[in-house]
Amino acid sequence: MSDRPRVIVTRRLPETVEAALTERFDTVLNPDDTPFDAPRLAQAMASADAVLCTVGDRIDAAALGEAPRARLLANFAVGVNHIDLAACAARGVAVSNTPGVLTDATADIAMTLILMVLRRAAEGERMVRAGAWEGWAPTQLLGGDLSGRTLGIVGMGRIGQATARRAHHGFGMRILYTNRSEIDPGLPAQRMELPELMASADVISLHCPGGEANRGLISAGLIARMRPGAALINTARGDVVDEPALIAALETGRISAGLDVFEAEPAVPEALRKLENAVLLPHLGSATRETREAMGMKCVANLEAFFAGRPLPDPVD
Ligand code: DGY
Repeated sequence: MSDRPRVIVTRRLPETVEAALTERFDTVLNPDDTPFDAPRLAQAMASADAVLCTVGDRIDAAALGEAPRARLLANFAVGVNHIDLAACAARGVAVSNTPGVLTDATADIAMTLILMVLRRAAEGERMVRAGAWEGWAPTQLLGGDLSGRTLGIVGMGRIGQATARRAHHGFGMRILYTNRSEIDPGLPAQRMELPELMASADVISLHCPGGEANRGLISAGLIARMRPGAALINTARGDVVDEPALIAALETGRISAGLDVFEAEPAVPEALRKLENAVLLPHLGSATRETREAMGMKCVANLEAFFAGRPLPDPVD
């Protein structure tokens, strides 16, 4: 029996992170990397002093009820919409996350989606793979230039601003934004209310948190305001968008979308999977080796601080 704090890790992590955890704590890893279902999560939580969880784990009041010893959830993500924060507060369980280190990777994926949607890259790739390409043609798979188009950012925090900088400085897009009043002064951008932004932008990119505060924010009414030919990009959380309304709008062919996140991941509605005008990625926002390692090391730093009785470097209120 170890006297070191027991840390349950719900998924495989980069090797360096697993080694750092094992060195410091009585660490229980998940070598086969299968997602924890509710009974397995309950079993793991029962002996945990802390849980290193990921966006695929649903940490609700029931799961916390199985964790009599757990005092910290070190969340391997910046988003915390999969954690019942009120239940954590009620049980005195602290929560940390990983802000800052995934800004560039996530902004890169937003740009990837903007490029893929506007340049119809996924359609082209599918055509080549299917052996259906019959050669270059002047009117084949024509997309649109990024340069001169307007990008509307919903949620102008770290990732929203990083995306805006890439789009403006790298691709010559004009930037509109909603939410924040103070932004990087080196970024020419026009602030406006969400309904006006939805109606004005050629591309709308979502960067606000998910969960209760923003559930269904991009409603059927706001989707209907989008300009014909406009694109909706979501690298934030699936629940920010009214997904059935988005699918209905995509089915008319009036707009297109680039989605890295979905309402009920990993389930992606079949109706969405059938659409040529939707680019679909499997929640790749932070998926670079460097970023995942940095996220893991942030979890280690929060666990270390917590068990040493120091304030959390990255507390979630
Ligand atoms: C986050 O950190 O919230 C991301 O969605 C995980 O990639």
